[in-house]
Amino acid sequence: MQSLQRQASCMSGVRQEDALAIDGVNLYERLGFDTFVQLSTNFYNNVYSDDQQWFRSIFANSTKDDAIQNQYEFFVQRMGGPSLYAHRKGNSALIARHGPYPVTERAAARWLFHMKSALDQTDDIDFDSKTRMFNYFKHTAFFLVAGKELTNHHRLVGNYGVGGKHMGRA
Ligand code: HEM
Repeated sequence: MQSLQRQASCMSGVRQEDALAIDGVNLYERLGFDTFVQLSTNFYNNVYSDDQQWFRSIFANSTKDDAIQNQYEFFVQRMGGPSLYAHRKGNSALIARHGPYPVTERAAARWLFHMKSALDQTDDIDFDSKTRMFNYFKHTAFFLVAGKELTNHHRLVGNYGVGGKHMGRA
């Protein structure tokens, strides 16, 4: 996990301590519940109306309302509020939960593009909060890309390395 964090920093250009600056203040108390709902609504409105079909299609198996709720509950919980996400869905396990999706560097860049717009469209997010949040988002997006690359690598090794049909007996 430590090396995934390092890779995420290299790929995103965000140092781990800057990504963790969301923990330096309670952003949930500072911004309030409604701000997080508004942020995720703005984000997914942008995503689901993206003119780049390759990106929009990544979200095709989720309804917009579900995606919004999943996201704001997670953000509320991660940024100092009640554990809404854990109560409803359990462990957030972000790498595993993104397993079905093509989380590439290109997808991360597009995700961040929409999140930056959503942060700007959402009322009352001050500059300091925006900076803390965007650093966290950027680092996490590339953490997911690094996690995906690691998972793909393990899948390849699993298929063609140990335990294949060349292992003898059977
Ligand atoms: C869910 C894609 C980055 C947090 C999803 C879903 C997709 C997706 C397709 C399913 C929508 C749903 O049903 O909820 C991506 C892509 C990313 C990315 C392509 C680019 C890197 C991020 C980042 C975060 C994040 C940076 C957190 C900071 C979540 C959460 C869920 C989710 C909490 C809900 C998971 C669940 O409950 O199943 N993402 N995501 N994602 N994503 Fe991402």
